Amino acid sequence: MSEQAKRPVKITETILRDAHQSLIATRMTTEQMLPIIDKMDKVGYHSVECWGGATFDASLRFLKEDPWERLRKLRAGFKNTKLQMLFRGQNILGYRHYADDVVEYFVQKSIANGIDIIRIFDCLNDIRNLETAVKAANKEKGHAQIALSYTLGDAYTLDYWTDMAKRIEDMGADSLCIKDMAGLLVPYKATELVETLKAATKLPIQLHTHYTSGVASMTYMKAVEAGCDIIDTAMSPFAMGTSQPATEVMAETFKGTAYDPGFDQNLLAEIADYFRPMRDDCLASGLLNPKVMGVNIKTLMYQVPGGMLSNLVSQLKDAHQEDKYYQVLEEVPRVRKDFGEPPLVTPSSQIVGTQAVLNVLSGERYKMITKESKALLRGEYGQTVKPFNAEVQKKAIGDEKAITCRPADLIKPELKTIEAEMAQWKEQDEDVLTYALFPQVATEFFKYRQAQKTKVDLTAADSASKAYPV
Ligand code: CO
Repeated sequence: MSEQAKRPVKITETILRDAHQSLIATRMTTEQMLPIIDKMDKVGYHSVECWGGATFDASLRFLKEDPWERLRKLRAGFKNTKLQMLFRGQNILGYRHYADDVVEYFVQKSIANGIDIIRIFDCLNDIRNLETAVKAANKEKGHAQIALSYTLGDAYTLDYWTDMAKRIEDMGADSLCIKDMAGLLVPYKATELVETLKAATKLPIQLHTHYTSGVASMTYMKAVEAGCDIIDTAMSPFAMGTSQPATEVMAETFKGTAYDPGFDQNLLAEIADYFRPMRDDCLASGLLNPKVMGVNIKTLMYQVPGGMLSNLVSQLKDAHQEDKYYQVLEEVPRVRKDFGEPPLVTPSSQIVGTQAVLNVLSGERYKMITKESKALLRGEYGQTVKPFNAEVQKKAIGDEKAITCRPADLIKPELKTIEAEMAQWKEQDEDVLTYALFPQVATEFFKYRQAQKTKVDLTAADSASKAYPV
């Protein structure tokens, strides 16, 4: 080690975002997070991922929490640690493409409310869908990290990844992330990929993977040895399975080597002690299903992310057709091929998955085609790495002309219209964005918020009348 310069690996902690999204359906509340952030702030993390992805939707929909309020509270508590979010390019945190003015405003408000690092990705790796968000982050002096959705297939060669990395660097990204949402990157392939990317660009490289297929910690080790600068891990109570490798384990693995992050295991143990009862509660209530904790080798065989597998199971369950599971799994790669071989990550994973289910259950491929499949085949999500199957495309959109430009170029500015539509609910500027992303869920939340206020006011009036009898 003497001749080898120290190169401590940096660590992004995911327990406040991806870990609970992957294991307990994003149900961790702000109140559950706040008591421990003081300790987490002392670890020396490169960043804490705590916002974006499904957290926004789940906060509003299930927890009846204002996600912006959560962000401000976390910002107030994390005095020394950078806060990181996940951002779906032109989809922001939603499922469709938004106009540039909404994307720009969302980036501006995320940074104003406390985000330091924005990890931006596109489900098709169409980098035109990243431009607006990256430029906005640059303008607001945030750190713009572009994530490449990692996947396998004929088109995804080392040349492909190298070319993408160069284009990302040219675009003004501050760092590059290999986003392996399905846990498909195996250890020796990681060596090859990281070495290649390091040679192609000067950008710091971060690796994000999931334990789903059982190789993740080995993949991190190989990647770090090959020059990967930052890895994503989760504190042990919410690590492994469909989540990330455990923070404590990776810190201990690199201890005393050139890559030692220098974390205090006692401090990590205190943090783990805090989260462990929460894990036990989730296991007891069924929110944490032991099934997601094991090794799922099917994810490697079918190249399907863990979250998508569980979605398929529940869709088939709803249709009382659980025996069609393997037929659907085999149909997924075929649909993916017809759809231009995109990576499978939100929202492309849902689109391909649902279409595969329909193809099997209806007994005839593409007898029924979803609205989202049609939109994808019309080019509304952008360009795929390979062309669509022309026959399937024709079945879906007939003689309609497909979009070839950047899809958002066809969307007129929409912020003003949205603001006018929701004016009666607006209590803060951020509410406009909440409504823009999830109009129905946001309206329900705004109603709830208002009702809570009225309740509080009534209680206050009640006690006031008791205090001052007239
Ligand atoms: Co993830």
